Amino acid sequence: MDTHKKLLILGAGKMGGSLLKGLIASNKLDFDISIIEPNLTNDIQKLINPNGIEYYKSPEDIKDPDFDLVIFAVKPQSINEVCAGLGKNLNQKKIFSIISILAGTKIKEFKSFFKESPVIRTMPNLAVSEGSGMTALCGSNNANKSFKATAGKIFLEVGEIIWVDNEAMMDVITATSGSGPAYFFFLAECLALISEEMGLSNQDAHKLSRQVVIGSADVMRNSTESLASLRKKVTSKGGTTEAALDVMMSSEKDFYNIFKKAIKAAFKRSNELSN
Ligand SMILES: NC(=O)c1ccc[n+]([C@@H]2O[C@H](COP(=O)([O-])OP(=O)(O)OC[C@H]3O[C@@H](n4cnc5c(N)ncnc54)[C@H](OP(=O)(O)O)[C@@H]3O)[C@@H](O)[C@H]2O)c1
Repeated sequence: MDTHKKLLILGAGKMGGSLLKGLIASNKLDFDISIIEPNLTNDIQKLINPNGIEYYKSPEDIKDPDFDLVIFAVKPQSINEVCAGLGKNLNQKKIFSIISILAGTKIKEFKSFFKESPVIRTMPNLAVSEGSGMTALCGSNNANKSFKATAGKIFLEVGEIIWVDNEAMMDVITATSGSGPAYFFFLAECLALISEEMGLSNQDAHKLSRQVVIGSADVMRNSTESLASLRKKVTSKGGTTEAALDVMMSSEKDFYNIFKKAIKAAFKRSNELSN
């Protein structure tokens, strides 16, 4: 039996909706789930009745405001309004736990509304929608072992997790794994464009590019070898891959440096947004 019984998901958009789907599919965590979402999508709508989920359009509609755990999955810009609205409608005597997936929103922002609540700030990425997300978690001082275990289990349903002790690391994680999928989509776009420029049809170039990324991800998923060792497996001495990697890994480190510059820019922006 889990400590947290009544769960409220605030915002069932891309991320909140993915978490909801993961929790329903896993069936391992024993929650009574409620959601608040002003604009329900068709796929989330279809999950409500068969899974006994309570649905509310806004906090004012909540009938039984007695939640143990609230997951915040709204846009960061609306956090003050959402916290204020929720505070008015929840059972004020009950201390509920908070999990936030909001980019650039510090634990102290939740604490300013819900002083006693333990808070776990997380940074998931888009792949939670496929069950292969990467989520970093960081707890407030009063987040106990049992709450941390519950939060860990929730995100393990939609991928892998890591814990960080220092909240400042969330900006690094936002820049690397939060934004990460976009970097690989862009690399795939470049590969498609270059293949097309070199003579393939647009359709074939995109098919090839997607499948290269999917195939490489599968190889990584099914192997315990290091990334460098996997790369070396494709790189025979004097071969074609080596010719390409000689350019990418030249002593000027152009490729590495531009990638690092990009990630540093994301880190800086994350830092600006959270201050
Ligand atoms: N997408 C990513 O890759 C990613 C990665 C890491 C973290 N995040 C974080 O995840 C959070 C959600 O992002 P998302 O991409 O899932 O955004 P999204 O699809 O826009 O989902 C947010 C949902 O919350 C709803 N909402 C707005 N006000 C609400 C309220 N007062 N009460 C309840 N629900 C409300 C929105 O409805 P309306 O559309 O009507 O406003 C929307 O459906 C953001 O804070 C973001 O920083 C996203």
